Amino acid sequence: MANIKRIIIVALLMISQASILKAEDGHALWLRNHSAVKVNISSTVRSATVDLAIAELKKGWLGKENMYIKLNLSKNPSIKGDGFQLEESAINARTELGLLYGTYELLRRQYLNLPQRNFISNPSYSRRILNHWDNLDGSIERGYAGSSIFWGNAANGLDITNQDQEKWKAYARANASIGINGAVLNNVNASVKILSPAYLEKVKAIAESLRPYGIKTYLSVNFSSPVLIGKLKKADPLDPQVKQWWKNKAAEIYKLIPDFGGFLVKANSEGQPGPQDYGRTHVDGANMLADALAPFNGIVMWRAFVYNPSPEDRTKQAYKEFLPLDGAFKKNVILQVKNGPLDFQPREPFSPLFGGMSKTPVMPEFQITQEYLGASKQLVFLSTLWEECLNSDTYKNGKGSTVAACTDGTLSKTDFTAIAGVANIGNDVNWTGHTFAQANWYAFGRLAWNNKLESKTIAEEWIKQTFLDDKEKKTNANFVKTTQEIMLESREAAVNYMMPLGLHHIFAEGHHYGPAPWFSNDKIRADWTSVYYHKADTLGIGFDRTRSGSDAVDQYHEPLSSTFNNLSSCPEMYLLWFHHVPWSYRLKNGKDLWTELCIRYDHGVQQVRSFQKDWDKMKGAIDSERFAEVQSKLRTQSRDAQIWKDACLLYFQQFSKREIPFEIERPVHDLQSLKELTKSRDYE
Ligand code: GCU
Repeated sequence: MANIKRIIIVALLMISQASILKAEDGHALWLRNHSAVKVNISSTVRSATVDLAIAELKKGWLGKENMYIKLNLSKNPSIKGDGFQLEESAINARTELGLLYGTYELLRRQYLNLPQRNFISNPSYSRRILNHWDNLDGSIERGYAGSSIFWGNAANGLDITNQDQEKWKAYARANASIGINGAVLNNVNASVKILSPAYLEKVKAIAESLRPYGIKTYLSVNFSSPVLIGKLKKADPLDPQVKQWWKNKAAEIYKLIPDFGGFLVKANSEGQPGPQDYGRTHVDGANMLADALAPFNGIVMWRAFVYNPSPEDRTKQAYKEFLPLDGAFKKNVILQVKNGPLDFQPREPFSPLFGGMSKTPVMPEFQITQEYLGASKQLVFLSTLWEECLNSDTYKNGKGSTVAACTDGTLSKTDFTAIAGVANIGNDVNWTGHTFAQANWYAFGRLAWNNKLESKTIAEEWIKQTFLDDKEKKTNANFVKTTQEIMLESREAAVNYMMPLGLHHIFAEGHHYGPAPWFSNDKIRADWTSVYYHKADTLGIGFDRTRSGSDAVDQYHEPLSSTFNNLSSCPEMYLLWFHHVPWSYRLKNGKDLWTELCIRYDHGVQQVRSFQKDWDKMKGAIDSERFAEVQSKLRTQSRDAQIWKDACLLYFQQFSKREIPFEIERPVHDLQSLKELTKSRDYE
């Protein structure tokens, strides 16, 4: 008997040992456990949020053992909003949330061995928001990491399990650790059901899980809600009954969720209803909702992603629509503008609305989910794309009027500032599908907090926290350096093998993963086809947006409009965005356009091949699970980069009628087979 007992005890010990050494599944993100030492904490204030800060410090303290640390609410004027100050033995902040943010920063700095004394950090934007394109059936539009963490799942999608709540808390903690303080819980293509009492009850429950971490809850709303669930005859924003309906709805929401953030609205865009259905303007629509939310301090994020089937260049339409409305919006309305004038392409110039609007606050919308950048199959670090946008000079008030300065309150004071990222999060164990997609979530949060951070810093921070064990373990400098280099080069590589030199939107229809530069279809609107964007013919390739073309260049301030307009001064990375260029045109390096295009596509493929080689050399530097996952995904990426190159070069060659230069590797596919392949749904 005693022997059996012993055997059972030993077996149990082995099982628990095994679970301690459990495989790295990526679920812990950049917040993996470290071997902490004891710390003593006192606080001048107590609340659910401060309790979280205390718990985090106890769990993660890597400083001197038995130190005394004070959490202090302070009126130091150098601390702004939810910012904080770190001192040798204190964290000072104006708000409780600031104390939590200070805690995360302090722990991060301890882990990264960075100095922390008298370090003050204030947020660049007051609202740092994730947009979830989650549908109520649990699917996610442009989601590549499993089903929604908020909706769907069981029976009618409304019941709430302990597991749900645990997940929401883990999600909120990850967000808080990087400074994100808001979440829009449902798709911009919004179901009206979200405003029904049953769904609002669930929103309330989600809000309760997120609140202690300082995450405010927002919803996307359908402009036709008063008709579709309110049973009114119309949703005309000037109709008193419609106004009252929204006021009542706002009151109902705030009764359940007193700190509710507000509404995100996609109106009169891609078939969504909006004020124009009633002959009204975006101002009428936005202001009506703003009035309903104002008594509760709620805001309206009105999206500027609008375009209609018209002969006008699609990239010009949002600016033309919104510029005349500048100054007419209520104070609690902000215009949410995608980084580029088209649609989250691998590379676009910045949207001219950032420099155009001068009396209306504007917030950037970035896409964290990789709709056009390889889904969760490809390693593409998007921080460099966002950094490029934020640092772009609009020349709004002369030199130095960057997109960052136009949106973070530097150029004009506004009641609040904001930034949004379309989330890449789902129910996959590692949250984002690809381990390296976690870096994009991380980078968005860090840039939203500090829009001057450099991608190389963000990458280094993320790599060390995500992959390396605690600081006692010898930091694997070579792994950090190699991985950082891969990350920093990855977006440019994607531009090269997908659409270099300013090409854009030549994706396969629907899934937006693979290439289909040949895609054209008389039955759908022209601006949903690829040929509309590249305009390749026997003379050349590219979209003429100069003064003799669509004149999109004049939506930019001088000297940019002339710089873009002039073929010789237009930056080559935007060449085919702004110009239709002859195949024989000589680029700055002396090569003709066709040759350079071929070289760029080939270079993109070579870049991914070298990521593979470099990654393979890292075997043993990190856990075998994540090493193998990334290795396998890089194989897919290499294969698909080759498909991009072959498809685009063989297709464009039909127009250029020139040889593929002999200095690059030959295509390995034939065009017809690629046309079939990328049509298939399996190729997503
Ligand atoms: C893109 C995307 C859509 C999305 C839309 C938007 O067009 O493909 O899925 O709904 O952007 O941002 O509203």
